[in-house]
Amino acid sequence: MAEGLDFKNPVGTTLDRFIMENQSDFPFATGELSQLLRDIAFAAKIVNKEINRAGLSDIVGAMGNKNVQGEDQQRLDVIADFRFTQALTQGGEVCALVSEEVDDIIYTGQNEAKYVVAMDPLDGSSNIDVNVAIGTIFSIYRRKSALGEKPTMEDVLQKGTEQIAAGYILYGSSTMLVYTTGFGVNGFTYEPSLGEFFLSHPNMKTPETGRLYSINEGNYDDFEDQLKAYIQLCRDRKYSGRYIGSLVADFHRNMMKGGMYVYPATKGSPKGKLRLIYECNALGFIIEQAGGLATDGKSRILEIQPTELHQRVPYYVGSKKMVEESMGL
Ligand code: AHG
Ligand code: MN
Ligand code: MN
Repeated sequence: MAEGLDFKNPVGTTLDRFIMENQSDFPFATGELSQLLRDIAFAAKIVNKEINRAGLSDIVGAMGNKNVQGEDQQRLDVIADFRFTQALTQGGEVCALVSEEVDDIIYTGQNEAKYVVAMDPLDGSSNIDVNVAIGTIFSIYRRKSALGEKPTMEDVLQKGTEQIAAGYILYGSSTMLVYTTGFGVNGFTYEPSLGEFFLSHPNMKTPETGRLYSINEGNYDDFEDQLKAYIQLCRDRKYSGRYIGSLVADFHRNMMKGGMYVYPATKGSPKGKLRLIYECNALGFIIEQAGGLATDGKSRILEIQPTELHQRVPYYVGSKKMVEESMGL
């Protein structure tokens, strides 16, 4: 080693290398899933770039129309949806997509492809204009229908237990990509000057319990009695209330520090607000891999059979003991 020079900080493992080295986790893997993960990372870099300069270009603000959920669509919702859809269509590994921003199944025309992706291209839309952390959520399934045919509803309405991989990108104080293929959870931090994600959080685990609770307490009066009692318990124990209003950011912080996020059923929304297929299942798979729990307040999220693309579900996710306690277990 050259004298007088400090080479203590090694060049880390890039996401590409990590994906390649772990490809053998899948027997008979032929590299398509690896390519698909790389396509997602590529789209994430583009979206990250657009988000970082959002205030300087004319891409903040509302589109002036509503999406299929009846929610105001933001320009960045549409941009992120376009970028991910384009990357996954051109990538060639995906036969069908489900996106929060699109009413029906998106057929990529790649009928020979094995995989189906469900995504929330931009999570935390209400935080875009005010420079607060936002995210992307994705979930990957193997198709059920035969290769070569047009994908079917059965391909996209799969239980969370069938996920092959799931992850999220958090555009926060730094940009991170966190994913699992069912062999633990690994987190990568983006180094913009090199244009690479580097492994920064290997084998992420969530504490068994925690002291953070994330819930929109403005809805307190509409909660069921059991949840009201648990929130009161959190207050009595002087737990910290932390609510960003971007699921990905709240989830990530709680997974790192120990805590729980809840978007419950309320009188106004008896099914909750969050979407089973492209929000709850992906983060449910990740939290289970990290040692935590995800439920609808009664049973395991990943075992719910979806019946609609944009199905909503009450959501309790985070440290195992807190989720159990909030369910009255
Ligand atoms: P999206 O921006 O993809 O529509 O998701 C918003 C979700 C979630 O990210 C967040 O935690 C929650 O909505 C906030 O809802 P409230 O404003 O009702 O608390
Ligand atoms: Mn969302
Ligand atoms: Mn969204």
